Amino acid sequence: MMNPNHPEKTAVVTGGSRGIGRGIVLQLAKLGFKIVIHSRTGGEPAQQTKRDALLAGSPEVLCMEADLADHDQYNSFVQRTFDHLGSCHVWVNNAGIAPQVRADLLETTPESWDHVLNTNLKGPFFLTQSVAKFMLNQRLHNDFSTPDHIIFVTSISSTVASIQRGEYCVSKAGLSMVAQLFAARLASQGVIVTEIRPGIIATDMTASVKDKYDSLIAQGLVPQARWGTPEDVGKVVTAIARGDLNFSTGAVITVDGGLTIARL
Ligand SMILES: NC(=O)c1ccc[n+]([C@@H]2O[C@H](COP(=O)([O-])OP(=O)(O)OC[C@H]3O[C@@H](n4cnc5c(N)ncnc54)[C@H](OP(=O)(O)O)[C@@H]3O)[C@@H](O)[C@H]2O)c1
Repeated sequence: MMNPNHPEKTAVVTGGSRGIGRGIVLQLAKLGFKIVIHSRTGGEPAQQTKRDALLAGSPEVLCMEADLADHDQYNSFVQRTFDHLGSCHVWVNNAGIAPQVRADLLETTPESWDHVLNTNLKGPFFLTQSVAKFMLNQRLHNDFSTPDHIIFVTSISSTVASIQRGEYCVSKAGLSMVAQLFAARLASQGVIVTEIRPGIIATDMTASVKDKYDSLIAQGLVPQARWGTPEDVGKVVTAIARGDLNFSTGAVITVDGGLTIARL
């Protein structure tokens, strides 16, 4: 059902086919957003999320593919999304990868470094550069009174060191700064930038280390004593998209059940 506060609101969620991105898509659908579900491969997960988003209340959903590790695809992807939606009010940079191999810091390879940083850092930076230009242009021509939003899904790995996936931590630490940079650059022009830092969330990305995290959570790693869900992250995006944090550009919101509380 369309939210009366946000008629014809539009959103793009990168990596929206599965996991956290799917959780975000479904929450935005409940608010009545018209949505582009981006993913690398498309296919059945994207189609399933599309069907579920339509059932949840989105008036229109389109699936689009682009590889965020391929710089040549960014501009045409952003152009296609704005062409389709007409304008974009909420852009969520969620897509990301873990290293294919969790290797000790002393064994990190340049190939894995490049792959992870191209996808998790260079991709979202240049994609957002392009999105920001389109958003500023749409604001110029439409005289919007409400802000537009760019959201970065980073990770607690921005500050928590995992020595078996150093390249991932570096990519997320860099992405946290990217969020601060775009927040500062766009603040006076009506575009609010927010960073969401998830902790341990149950998705395909964490499926291979489920037993390890089950055990760590049982030992007290997460004060709230459970896995996070894609819905937990999606609900934060809902609050941002509704405009509940409209004087908080540059905010960093953790969704980690208290994992990063410094404790004695
Ligand atoms: N799960 C966690 O515990 C956790 C914690 C903190 C932060 N995060 C972050 O949250 C985000 C989502 O993670 P997730 O756990 O939901 O992951 P996931 O279940 O593995 O889903 C990843 C999504 O990103 C897309 N993607 C991957 N590589 C891509 C590329 N090169 N180009 C375009 N799209 C690409 C995938 O598309 P396809 O379906 O086509 O493969 C998929 O939609 C990531 O940025 C991750 O770093 C996750």
